[in-house]
Amino acid sequence: MPSSATELIIALDVDTLDEARDIVHRIGPAGVWYKVGKQLFTRHGPDSVRFLKAAGKQVFLDLKFHDIPNTVAQAVRAAAAIGADLTNVHASGGPAMLAAAAQAAFESHILLVAVTVLTSLGNSDLQAIGCPPDTGAQALRLAGLAKDAGCHGVVCSAHEIAAMRDAYGDAFMLVVPGIRPAGAGLDDQKRVMTPAAAAAAGARFIVVGRPVTQAADPAAAAAAVRAELTPA
Ligand code: C5P
Repeated sequence: MPSSATELIIALDVDTLDEARDIVHRIGPAGVWYKVGKQLFTRHGPDSVRFLKAAGKQVFLDLKFHDIPNTVAQAVRAAAAIGADLTNVHASGGPAMLAAAAQAAFESHILLVAVTVLTSLGNSDLQAIGCPPDTGAQALRLAGLAKDAGCHGVVCSAHEIAAMRDAYGDAFMLVVPGIRPAGAGLDDQKRVMTPAAAAAAGARFIVVGRPVTQAADPAAAAAAVRAELTPA
């Protein structure tokens, strides 16, 4: 059984700080963790993290760093310095990059997870870049590199949770996007899982964007997702 409760991270995939502030204000106490990604960060930089920290929120800075080890380590330190609580790198950056990033995360007190195989890639895409054409095996292999290097966990699809748990144990933190409450639209997600099923499988965090941020009542939508995460 997973050792920690599952928490909801709400993806703030918007263009402006005004939109982001409005969503956070409307969700209120039902929103604890937020994800800032490339869309908002590229436009507004550290302000997009700072306004969340000023509001008392926890922040996942999802910039998926991938570069030479020193550059990535400094980027992880910078993420911690602007207030992020969790950030990520591409595991395909390799063992030395992962180790440098993990060391920087340890020293700067930020949680670090690694992205394995993007869910937008299929077996033929892996073959095109010279990898064995098996996304599941490649994701497990890269997660193993991340664990050996000292990363806290990985970002993975809901359908990979069980294999990751089997291979790397309950303490390895799994951050899981592609979640849809029962009855919600799929948007552009293809293979989804409900919050309850992802929590039961052992996700430490689930990432949900549009089903919460674009709901008529975002606070109620966030509260409903979180209610699914708490075993009865
Ligand atoms: O709106 P939605 O719930 O689909 O948003 C999910 C968030 O998780 C988005 O920010 C998306 O970029 C991210 N994500 C994902 N699938 C992955 C990795 C990240 O949907 N495999």
